[in-house]
Amino acid sequence: MNPFQRHRQALASRLPDGLIVLAGGSRVLRNGDVPFPFRQKSDFLYLTGVEEPDCVVLIDPRRKAQTLFIPKVDSQHRVWLGPVPGPAQARSRYGFPRALHCDRLAAEILRAKRGCRALYADRDTLAKLGKLKGLGLRGLPGRPAALRDALDELRAVKSPGEIALMETASRVSGGAFRAAMRAVRPGMAEYEVQAVFESACLKQGLRHLAFSSIVAAGRNAAVLHYHHNDATIRGGDLVLLDAGAERLGYPADITRTFPANGRFTRRQRDIYSIVLETQKAMIDRARPGVVSADLHAKSMTMIAEGLKSLGLLKGGTAGLVENGAVRLFYPHGLAHMLGLDVHDSAGGRKRKLPNPAKVPVRFVAKLEPGFAITVEPGIYFIEALLRDPALRRKHRGSVDFARADGFLDFGGVRIEDDIVIRPDGPPRNLTDVPKEIDEVEAACGRG
Ligand code: GLY
Ligand code: MN
Ligand code: MN
Repeated sequence: MNPFQRHRQALASRLPDGLIVLAGGSRVLRNGDVPFPFRQKSDFLYLTGVEEPDCVVLIDPRRKAQTLFIPKVDSQHRVWLGPVPGPAQARSRYGFPRALHCDRLAAEILRAKRGCRALYADRDTLAKLGKLKGLGLRGLPGRPAALRDALDELRAVKSPGEIALMETASRVSGGAFRAAMRAVRPGMAEYEVQAVFESACLKQGLRHLAFSSIVAAGRNAAVLHYHHNDATIRGGDLVLLDAGAERLGYPADITRTFPANGRFTRRQRDIYSIVLETQKAMIDRARPGVVSADLHAKSMTMIAEGLKSLGLLKGGTAGLVENGAVRLFYPHGLAHMLGLDVHDSAGGRKRKLPNPAKVPVRFVAKLEPGFAITVEPGIYFIEALLRDPALRRKHRGSVDFARADGFLDFGGVRIEDDIVIRPDGPPRNLTDVPKEIDEVEAACGRG
């Protein structure tokens, strides 16, 4: 049984009284009549593993039936875009007991809806069904929120099959990181590092990135989701590479920060070591029952201690975390769930927790075996925060702004690994890319 068959079964047993219908994604135009590369909707991938556009899945839990509907394409489609699998091919390729063309969808729903209590479909699917001729859905209430909740609950815990897909994404992305670190030299453009990374992923058959690659040299690394990637890398710069490929929608999301000329300066080592020690400690603590927001608060404490040791912060550590001073240097979350959505859901209503930590953070969940999360602390010198007059006034007792001004050309350091929570002991780390200082120096080219 492939993982997607298991996902359909699990969803059917959560929603046994209705009919589950989900439309996959369609091509989206980029300009004129030219589409973006197609990326399947995450929920549809979860239930089918099908990367073709314009398909629909119908799950009838009461009759234990599962049908994949595929578009019937005309000869013009075949001329320009090639064939799409027919029903017989789709059945065997995707492991469905039944596959039909989409023009049979209305009739199949009409047949299956007898005695059903609800239609579990998302809003997009309900809108599409509303346009189908001959399909009256009166008396069959649409329940998009219940479907969302069930899918979020299921998608939070990754099965061995899903973890295997993420392992592939991590292994290939890890090799591409090593290639980028080997290639980097002062004088290169950021996009040349991007080209090395992305071509290494492509050469291994992973043709989709999980998100746009971030290659940020020097000050650009202080832009958290930098996207220009067009500056020249200078000797003495740190280069932050945050990137990852995906396999059947399952991503890697990795960050490394490395010296353009192969050697960290003293100051770079100081900042890097604080981030690295924090990251390793938080990975070690990521165990079942731990609340992610508490982990985040702990990482802020460690970063605050480190910045105090460099004279950038002053005063009691707890106060620096609570008053937000440390957030001037570390303004994002420690972690997020990782899955078919790079920033994946932390589960449905049952898993919703109040935030127990005294710090604002979006990801609040009690970690469970099978959760895949990132661990990605960072330290940045962000002019927009450090030169903000109101923040300077608010934090003048906590931050040595004169000293911080001397770091404004530094940029930032982020280190990000992808881990899976295990039932006991420390988590499994899917990321295999050098991160110790001597390993990173050995992995980088010498300018
Ligand atoms: N690459 C986006 C993130 O790390 O969350
Ligand atoms: Mn991330
Ligand atoms: Mn990332």
